[in-house]
Amino acid sequence: MRALVTGGTGRIGSAVADRLRVAGWSVLAAGRADGDVARPDQARALVKRGVSELGGLDLLVNAAAEGFAPKSALELSDADWELAFGATAKGSFFVTQAAAPHLREARGTVVMIEDVAAYQAWPAFAAHCAAKAAQAMLTRVFARALAPEVRVCGIAPGAVAVSPEQEERRAAETLLGRIGRPEDVAEAVVFLTGASFVTGASLVVDGGRLLQSGAA
Ligand SMILES: NC(=O)c1ccc[n+]([C@@H]2O[C@H](COP(=O)([O-])OP(=O)(O)OC[C@H]3O[C@@H](n4cnc5c(N)ncnc54)[C@H](OP(=O)(O)O)[C@@H]3O)[C@@H](O)[C@H]2O)c1
Repeated sequence: MRALVTGGTGRIGSAVADRLRVAGWSVLAAGRADGDVARPDQARALVKRGVSELGGLDLLVNAAAEGFAPKSALELSDADWELAFGATAKGSFFVTQAAAPHLREARGTVVMIEDVAAYQAWPAFAAHCAAKAAQAMLTRVFARALAPEVRVCGIAPGAVAVSPEQEERRAAETLLGRIGRPEDVAEAVVFLTGASFVTGASLVVDGGRLLQSGAA
């Protein structure tokens, strides 16, 4: 079983790569130094390298992202927008597109690491919310485009890796009274690799944060 994890040097991606290895997978955990996934030529080259090193591809996890920084929607620049959409939306698209024939051959799986931001409107993260909503749509679009050979699923984490000073506040926003851990997301990835009748669906891994924010 062979997996390419983009964002594999990040907090969540590295936990996913470690967990997959424990489960017996061969993993290429790619960071920015392995190619800028927001650039289609580099996204294609990364997939080519992954297929060559691993001998094929059974799983692609799209966990690369950047540009998550608070800024008023009224002050957002073109550069902020490009950064938020680059790895998250464009990167997820072009890496998945390049991996598609290999995943088809192996009857494999794609997991998009999304965000509850796809479903919530955060005024200080307008471009991030929009990019995450775009990525969540790609989960569904690719599920249709690559069926029946390839399943395409998403995971929408809540706060799982936040700065220490944010932890208490974010924990209070959940039903479970704690923030998540990258390992919580990694377990969900492993679950989805074996969930053979699930495609086009996103699993919310947020300790109940989306529910908690509902009005009484
Ligand atoms: N952290 C959370 O609490 C949280 C919550 C909800 C959703 N998420 C989502 O989970 C995913 C991973 O988040 P994280 O917190 O693990 O992020 P992170 O720690 O900031 O790591 C980001 C990863 O993406 C890579 N990357 C960034 N820009 C890239 C580019 N243009 N091309 C290739 N690789 C690039 C980085 O590579 P380098 O290490 O080489 O820079 C790193 O491996 C993201 O989609 C994020 O939106 C995170």
